[in-house]
Amino acid sequence: MPNSVILAIESSCDETSAAVIINGEVRSNIVATQVIHEQYGGVVPELASRAHQQHIVSVVTRALNDAKVTKKELEAVAFTRGPGLLGALLVGTSFAKALALGLNVPLIEVNHMKAHVLAHFIDEPKPDLPMLCLTVSGGHTQIVLVKSPYEMEVIGETQDDAVGEAFDKTAKLLGLPYPGGPVMDKLAKTGNPQAFEFPVSEMQGYNYSFSGIKTAVLYFLRDNLKKNENFIEENKADICASIQYTLVKMLLQKLRRASRELDIKEIAIAGGVSANSGLRETLKEMGEKEGWNIHIPDFQYCTDNAGMIAMAAHFKFLNNEFTSQSVSPMPRMEIPRMEI
Ligand code: KG4
Ligand code: ZN
Repeated sequence: MPNSVILAIESSCDETSAAVIINGEVRSNIVATQVIHEQYGGVVPELASRAHQQHIVSVVTRALNDAKVTKKELEAVAFTRGPGLLGALLVGTSFAKALALGLNVPLIEVNHMKAHVLAHFIDEPKPDLPMLCLTVSGGHTQIVLVKSPYEMEVIGETQDDAVGEAFDKTAKLLGLPYPGGPVMDKLAKTGNPQAFEFPVSEMQGYNYSFSGIKTAVLYFLRDNLKKNENFIEENKADICASIQYTLVKMLLQKLRRASRELDIKEIAIAGGVSANSGLRETLKEMGEKEGWNIHIPDFQYCTDNAGMIAMAAHFKFLNNEFTSQSVSPMPRMEIPRMEI
């Protein structure tokens, strides 16, 4: 079997990232986070693609240097084909295509959502299969049934906002800076999660809905600010803890149901929101009661990163799954959906 020395590039949203994987071992993972979006309170697609163009050469160079690999040693070049922002994906896709063409090595396209799941195969201990992976980010909320690195299906997902969006949008209503998720997490640590009650939306099957809580928080704040203009300032930690408690409860209730009904105790979380301390603690508590074997990737592999793209590319390399030079980005690329 040839050595698999693969360079992977991730540019689906606001992180420009490159990683090198050698025979299944991630040797470097460089991430340049775009700070330009903070002042706008959200990712501005046009600015994201421009920033990717500015960063991509230095990020790739650093990834190769850190892994002590030269371009000539690469056996393949991998990239995120989707889902993501078209202009942002275009930068990584074009760069990968040009590099692969210049080096005369194959291209490997990667589905970003599958890569979040496959991030669990980077470090030891690797999960047993089948497993259920709850992928929670700013763009997605889904429960994935993973049968093998090559076979996975979405069994439930949000029908509107992603849970990361629910964190960020409710945080914005409280006047917190963008992205609000980590700030809310920090404030929630000193608050009482039972101080206020927000509605939990009931969706069919293993599906989710997070748009209702945003509206509920909007009206809750409007009504309370009418009575006391300092309401937010005086209750910030309690409000954050209560919102976080509700979001985590919604996420884990469905995950527990899926685990019981499918009789799968190998449980993983992935995506940016898996950094949330409330989610991690409650998951561990629930896992002890349910007898789960829980997998949480190292923090650098939770948020968007090319290490996970490299891991997914490694599996494809082993299977000789390569991509034609005529490939273009796919902003709405999905994991197939299974109705249960
Ligand atoms: O996976 P990710 O880095 O990017 C994509 O959206 O693909 O996820 C970013 C999301 C944002 O919504 C951010 O607020 C949220 O993850 N997030 C958190 C925490 N850290 C990041 N949400 C809650 N608590 C955190 N500690
Ligand atoms: Zn992501």
